[in-house]
Amino acid sequence: MPSTILFDPIGVALAALPRWTQMAVLVDENTKAHCYPLVQHHLPDHVLIEIPSGEEHKHLGTCEHIWDALTRHHFDRKSVVLNLGGGVIGDMGGFCAATYKRGMDFVQVPTTLLAQVDASVGGKLGIDFQGFKNHLGVFQEPLFVLIDVNFLGTLSQRELRSGFAEVVKHGLIADRAAWDALRSRSLGQLDWGQVVPHSVRLKEKVVAQDPTEKGLRKILNFGHTVGHAVESWFLTHQPLGGRLLHGEAIAVGMVAEAWLSVQKGLLPASELAMIEAYLLQTYGRVALPEAALPEMAHLARQDKKNEGQVILACLLRAAGEAVYDIPLTEAEIVESLRYYAGGLT
Ligand SMILES: NC(=O)c1ccc[n+]([C@@H]2O[C@H](COP(=O)([O-])OP(=O)(O)OC[C@H]3O[C@@H](n4cnc5c(N)ncnc54)[C@H](O)[C@@H]3O)[C@@H](O)[C@H]2O)c1
Ligand SMILES: [Zn+2]
Repeated sequence: MPSTILFDPIGVALAALPRWTQMAVLVDENTKAHCYPLVQHHLPDHVLIEIPSGEEHKHLGTCEHIWDALTRHHFDRKSVVLNLGGGVIGDMGGFCAATYKRGMDFVQVPTTLLAQVDASVGGKLGIDFQGFKNHLGVFQEPLFVLIDVNFLGTLSQRELRSGFAEVVKHGLIADRAAWDALRSRSLGQLDWGQVVPHSVRLKEKVVAQDPTEKGLRKILNFGHTVGHAVESWFLTHQPLGGRLLHGEAIAVGMVAEAWLSVQKGLLPASELAMIEAYLLQTYGRVALPEAALPEMAHLARQDKKNEGQVILACLLRAAGEAVYDIPLTEAEIVESLRYYAGGLT
């Protein structure tokens, strides 16, 4: 059953929730400092569970810590976990709740832009395992998702811009008018109170038609076939001092995949020019070493969405319209990365 999504100020939304026998609130050190003070006095008695922030803690060891706290406090199946944080907290806290005693309720309170417009919607939960991202997980919808854009006020500009890549993606795959509205403003001019609910509704609409990703939901992967590969490569190489955030990698992927869309005869070249100009202006151009391009393309094979040996991507027919299950070769991905890097311009 899809969850109820509330866009009210957090105090109002929390007051509307049912009462459970017990409540746990999951935070990391950042959301404890910045977000917990905004919700604490709106909550009934609860147990606070803190885990360290960061993707590197999204693993079984941290789950054990969460399950252990729930067990020590005698949580039963009628209790609830409120996940207060970004996508890591939401994915992992949801996974722990969905598996604790075969499933207890959980509520997502996403506090990053990425988590608000993407991770908290659609019921995908999970953790990383042996270096593979989201390798263990389940589909399970939270009972409620409470989205208050006021949480974004303490997010760094870089995290905000990274999450914004998913907002751009939603426009490019499904809503031409939203895309036109986004590109006519700079990031600082956007009204998150309007942009976030609209973007969430776009994702919701796609997920509702295909909850377990058998078909249409794959369009949400636009930019992610190449983007994930670039992200993975940077995770292990970190060439220019620092890692690439998810949305920054997806911005690279969206340019590369828009170019591939033109090569496949799907997208007019004029649309590519417009998409590329906007993304490069917003995200800059990430330096990709020429020698690394084949390795990156090879990494695209690992994608969970592929079938057998074939790389399947979602490409664009227009800004605002996507097509999925388009086969790509590693050589084509190398060419697209070379184009992005500036080699063919
Ligand atoms: N389930 C899905 O459908 C889905 C979709 C996209 C991404 N994801 C997952 O989401 C994760 C990434 O999410 P993310 O980008 O939110 O990362 P994150 O959860 O690591 O949060 C980023 C950083 O921001 C901090 N933070 C969170 N809220 C804050 C606030 N309001 N003010 C200040 N700091 C704050 C966090 O402590 C963390 O350091 C990945 O693990 C990815 O796999 C899941
Ligand atoms: Zn993404």
